[in-house]
Formats: sequence, C-alpha cells, structure tokens
Amino acid sequence: MKKRIVVLTMAVLFGLSAVACGSEGGSSSGGTDTSAESSSSGSSDSGTVANKDKPLVWFNRQPSNSSTGELDMAALSFNEDTYYVGFDANQGAELQGTMVKDYIEANIDTIDRNGDGVIGYVLAIGDIGHNDSIARTRGVRKALGTGVEKDGSIDSEPIGTNTDGSASAVQDGSLEVNGKTYTVRELASQEMKNSAGATWDAATAGNAIGTWSSSFGDQIDVVVSNNDGMGMSMFNAWSKDNDVPTFGYDANNDAVAAIAEGYGGTISQHADVQAYLTLRVLRNALDGVDVDTGIGTADEAGNVLSDDVYVYNEEERSYYALNVAVTAENYQDFTDSTKVYEPVSNQLDESSHPTKKVWLDIYNASDNFLSSTYQPLLQNYDDLMNLDIDYIGGDGQTESNITNRLGNPGQYDAFAINMVKTDNAASYTALLSQ
Ligand code: BGC
Repeated sequence: MKKRIVVLTMAVLFGLSAVACGSEGGSSSGGTDTSAESSSSGSSDSGTVANKDKPLVWFNRQPSNSSTGELDMAALSFNEDTYYVGFDANQGAELQGTMVKDYIEANIDTIDRNGDGVIGYVLAIGDIGHNDSIARTRGVRKALGTGVEKDGSIDSEPIGTNTDGSASAVQDGSLEVNGKTYTVRELASQEMKNSAGATWDAATAGNAIGTWSSSFGDQIDVVVSNNDGMGMSMFNAWSKDNDVPTFGYDANNDAVAAIAEGYGGTISQHADVQAYLTLRVLRNALDGVDVDTGIGTADEAGNVLSDDVYVYNEEERSYYALNVAVTAENYQDFTDSTKVYEPVSNQLDESSHPTKKVWLDIYNASDNFLSSTYQPLLQNYDDLMNLDIDYIGGDGQTESNITNRLGNPGQYDAFAINMVKTDNAASYTALLSQ
C-alpha cells in the first residue's frame, strides 16, 4: 500500500466551509448546473486523506504552456498519483496528413474541380494554444508540402486567406502523380473560436466554409479540419452537396457514418482506450496497487492493454493512446465510438475494489468529441470500475466556471481534470493544496 499523509483537520474544514455543487450523471451545457451533491456512496477514506495527496488525472488537455507547448511538469507530478492521459498527437497528426495525401493521389483524376492544376484546400484550426491542434495543423502541412519551418518546427499559425500563394506561414507544395505535377495550396485557414471565446467551435467552422466557398468556389478541392466537430459542420453546410472530400479527427459516430456519404475520413484517437486509462490510473491509486495493473499487466478480472494501443512515457507521467486512420476501407469497424474496448471490459469485483467517489469535469459540455464520444465511454467504464463519478460540464470559456464547482474537494477520493486552457493547471492544484 502506498502511504498517504493524514490531514484530517484540513479535510474537515473543507467539508464544513465549502458549498457542494457537483452534478450527477451528465454535464449540463453552459455550465450552469448547481445541483447539490446527492450520492453518499463510496468514499471510505476521503475524510482522512489530504486533498493534495489524492489521485489526480489530467486528460485530453495536457498541462503545458500554450505558446511554447512546454509541459507543465509541476502539474504533471503534483503528487505521486498524478498522471496525464491523452493520445500520441504526433503519430495521429502524421496519419491524418498521410490520409489526406493518399486520398488526393488515389482520386487525382477527379479531385481538381476547376482543372487548374492547383489542389486547393482549406483548414479549420481548433485552438492555436492546444498541442493536439498544433500537431494536426503541422501534420497536414507536412504531408502536403505546404509547411514552412519556424524555430525548428513547422509553422502552425492560421493564415487567414491565401489566394495567390503568397502567405508567409505556408508555401505552395507540389505533388507528382502519374507523371504530372500539381501545386498544392492552403487557400485559407482560421482558428475556429467564437465571439465568447470557445475554441474548436463547430458553428464558427460552418460559417467559415460559407465565406470561403463564396470567395474561392471551385478552387476548393479538399476540406481539412483539426476535428470532426468542425469537419462535420463544414460537411453538412457545404462540402457534402458539392462533393468535396472533408477530413476530420476523432472518429465520432456521425463522422464515421458520413464516410458512406462522401466524408473523406477521420482518425480514431482510441478514445475507448483513453477513457479506460483515465479512470484506471485513479482506480489503481485508490486500490494502492501498481499503476500498471490492468494496463500493461493483466488484473485479476483479465483486463489488459496490448502495447499496440498505447504508450506510457514515464518522464512525462503521461499515457498516450495510439491513433488509427478511419477511411472508406475500414469505417464499418468504427461505427460505435462509445463502445468499451473489449480487452478491458471486465467488471472489477466490488469487494476488492470498493466504490469511490470521483470529481470529473469536461471543459466544454458542448464539445462534440468530449460529449458524444469521451463522456459516454467514461460512463460505461465507471460502473465497471466501481467509481461513482460526478460529471461537471464547463462552458468552454471560463476556467472559474469549473473551478467554482470544485468547492468541496474533501468530498471526493480522486479527481479527473479537463482544463479550458492548458496553462491553467495551477487553478486546480491550488484548490487541492489549500
Ligand atoms: C479533440 C477535439 C476536442 C479537443 C478538446 C481534441 O483531442 O480531437 O475534438 O475538441 O480535444 O480539448
């Protein structure tokens, strides 16, 4: 068993002074929920373990500097039971870029809609300060030859519009197929942030494709997006009717289904493995067992992950799921994104894994990927792992909207955090350190 420091008075103080404001079984949009804590099950030791010593997992948004991408190691090693769970952003980005390039090559006879020898694409960017978004922009520019080096890596800045190829953050690429050379041009790219500040905003992308299609018309041959939420919004608003292949990321159910209707493809970031890992690292710490239990080492119920679906980077205290391309060739295997991953779908025994209470937030209750894929998966796994979770849904814009609802950490045995901004880990750890 791992040792835990007992700071009884602190937990009691918290219990008395704070206002309980969790929400059970689902996030509320707009972050307005204030329903009182109802469940009393779980927690045998939440009153005796100091909040700062409780298991903590960051997920989906890795604590890091949003300008430089540098990892926030203080947050990642907040205590000995702190981890990050996400996916391998570079491997996935490379896959997305290659998927787009392969599609262009395989469809070269029909893809250049106005026949001018220039393959034009537009790019929807999620969040210029999010490592996953940056990696995807770079991956596409790299594969298509449109990337420009800046400070040792490919520039990931949005360009606005680039009608004649003179933008400085990208360059014209060239692609030789069947003996003919084509120019590849990023015609436009933009961070899809709404006026209230929410990033990865699908509605903003739907509007942008309207503007782009009226300026560029049939110069647009391909639409690429940092995620499916924005990709599907552009597909439904324009590309589907105009037969323009559109590529996203996440393998959300609606995007996978749309492949049958001309959506070009998407990437599965193995959310089924990530959601499992998110809860499993907490479960293991709560059980006082080795963190690899039920991950690289089979547990007594037979749950185990093979190393072709995740990697663990000990220095970064981070688990990364591996990505898989989903295209017309294999999409039938990905039609239900909320299904638990079979090798880790065995119920843990309640007597040796007693119910524990977990506080978990989703930074934006209306984020397509998190609400339609990730949270349903978490809700499937929480029962299997005997975790009683309060799901808190944020508004995607204000960190305090979420931190305000972590008023009583003493009530919980463990925490799972999805930040609005990757720089903001300290706003959460400060609450756990008080
Ligand atoms: C997903 C996006 C999502 C973002 C939220 C990314 O990993 O691909 O769809 O909006 O996470 O942080």
